[in-house]
Amino acid sequence: MEFEALKKSGITNLLSAFGRSIWLPQGIFYWTGRAKKEAAIDATIGSAQGPESEIVDGAPDKAVTFYIPSVTRYLGGPGSEDEGRGRGTRTSSEDIVAYAPMLGLPDLRKAWRDWILRKVGELRSRVEPCLTLPAVTPGVTGGIFMAAKLFVDKDEVVVSPDRLWENYSNVVERHIGGRIETFPFFEGGRFNLKGMQRKLLDTLAEQSKALLMLNFPNNPVGFNPPKDIVQPIVETLVEVVEQAGKPIVVLCDDAYEGYTYDPDALQRSMFGDLCDAHRRILPIKLDGISKEFLCYGGRLGFLTFGLPSGLDADRKALQEELDNKLGGVIRSTVSNCTRPVQAAILKALGQMDQVLAERGRVVDVLGRRARLLQAEFAKVDLPQFKPLPFNAGFFCFCDIEGVPANKLAEHLISKYKIGVVPTEAGKINGIRIAFCSVPEKDIPTLVSGVVSAIKDLAG
Ligand SMILES: Cc1ncc(COP(=O)(O)O)c(C=O)c1O
Repeated sequence: MEFEALKKSGITNLLSAFGRSIWLPQGIFYWTGRAKKEAAIDATIGSAQGPESEIVDGAPDKAVTFYIPSVTRYLGGPGSEDEGRGRGTRTSSEDIVAYAPMLGLPDLRKAWRDWILRKVGELRSRVEPCLTLPAVTPGVTGGIFMAAKLFVDKDEVVVSPDRLWENYSNVVERHIGGRIETFPFFEGGRFNLKGMQRKLLDTLAEQSKALLMLNFPNNPVGFNPPKDIVQPIVETLVEVVEQAGKPIVVLCDDAYEGYTYDPDALQRSMFGDLCDAHRRILPIKLDGISKEFLCYGGRLGFLTFGLPSGLDADRKALQEELDNKLGGVIRSTVSNCTRPVQAAILKALGQMDQVLAERGRVVDVLGRRARLLQAEFAKVDLPQFKPLPFNAGFFCFCDIEGVPANKLAEHLISKYKIGVVPTEAGKINGIRIAFCSVPEKDIPTLVSGVVSAIKDLAG
């Protein structure tokens, strides 16, 4: 593949050296594709197949990927208790044991695209022409890894607010050899626009493009920007690319999309607002079922590009070339993603009103916990204890002054039997509280324990 569309669109210039080099040879897939359409005898497929009647007594003669009922029964397929009860929930053996296509089940990719369009709400008409067909990744983590592999070069800087998911360091720095540079998350209690702008401009003074990691709702801070700051964030990024004359790739880590407890905060991902914001801004959406569908172990994520309009390249060719690059990464790392979960999520996506109604109960519970935690924090009058603003997600973060965070966490767990995650990194010293896992009734005790532990250690 020559990747002409990627070259014409300028996206080739955004790719890392690895991203430029990777491609998916057509080889096997070319011949399996041809055989599927044209062959009477197909000897291209590398999985055991044949008439179902050959392996299961009484089964029909239809061709299947061979399976073992004592395995598929545990995945709701043949052999399971539900079989034949007509509930319509039985999973076919094919949806359990067959390989999934490298980029994901085609119908699932389409259905997730529709889900993204539903999530962007009133921005739909603007976002729709930009959206590629999502590629299925192994969780959001897998999507972050693939995006970083394709777009981040060795020694290249990735900009992020200074409270970030710790795993970014392993992905970007240790796997790829890039560098994460941060700016302070808040300035005067608001998202630090100026800090972001300065950091991006400084970065662009040194390199041909900038990468920005935006994770809202954030881990560890549990913050989603108020609606009135979204446009200023977008405008700031537009100003940056205009001033620098260079592009920005924005990686939107939307793992916690949908968990916002404040009506004045952004309820959707900022990805939608970044779509077509500027020819030199390429947003990439990384989302998935771990939190959105409360299915952490399902290991399904999605990587979707928001291709700006005005790119001098055919969209269909761009999709094919991006799919080829992603296919190269997926095939050479995880090969493809778990098929039974793809099949199940495809079915769930077909009844999103019900899924959202059921998830709404969880969002309500977490919202109540967040508000109670905010109320308990508001009662605390302790100069060493500084909770950061939070209104979303699964966590909140409290800066701690005068007591090392690790020491505090150790004291909290040994004396008060309260577990939190400490961070001591450069200027940051604080604890992350996962309110997602603390029932409401325990929240006052949690807060009083933290306060007592700080007092014990601060002397
Ligand atoms: C900010 C952030 N991004 C991504 C992930 C990973 O999501 P997944 O479990 O889908 O890989 C997490 C999980 O903790 C997270 O906190």
